[in-house]
Amino acid sequence: MKTLLRFQLNGREVAFEAPPHARLLDVLRDIAGLTGTKEGCGEGECGACTVLVDGRALNSCLFPALEADGRSVVTVEGLASREGGLSELQQAFVDEGGAQCGFCTPGMVMSAAALLAENHSPSDDEIREALVGNLCRCTGYTQIIASIRAAGERIGKAATQ
Ligand code: FES
Ligand code: FES
Repeated sequence: MKTLLRFQLNGREVAFEAPPHARLLDVLRDIAGLTGTKEGCGEGECGACTVLVDGRALNSCLFPALEADGRSVVTVEGLASREGGLSELQQAFVDEGGAQCGFCTPGMVMSAAALLAENHSPSDDEIREALVGNLCRCTGYTQIIASIRAAGERIGKAATQ
């Protein structure tokens, strides 16, 4: 048996049929075809599957897809402009070497997006706190923090222009 799910995905209204026990991660990757969101542990430990639901960063491997009904979901694909250009945050990861193998990157970026939506100039401690649920197997934390700091500066500067 499948259930009809309707929600906003990266700014567009979508409807999918999904099994009642499907995880949001499965709907995003396997049904919507958005494979930017990664599955690492599948148990809420690594943060690779982080997406925004109503602006809040959460682990889509633990989030029941049915609970997304009627909400707004944003994945890493949704940060880019409609023309496909990278967001300031994504570009900062490129410029500052914030991605090594890249597996953790979508989750890191989404946790950072939630932080920067509330605070354009987070301290390094605030960045670390926001990333507490995101693990990087390549241990590139220094560059990841630098990327988020740089993105915040760019977003802040753009907001004052
Ligand atoms: S895959 Fe979801 S937290 Fe690791
Ligand atoms: S860049 Fe490889 S896991 Fe973080």
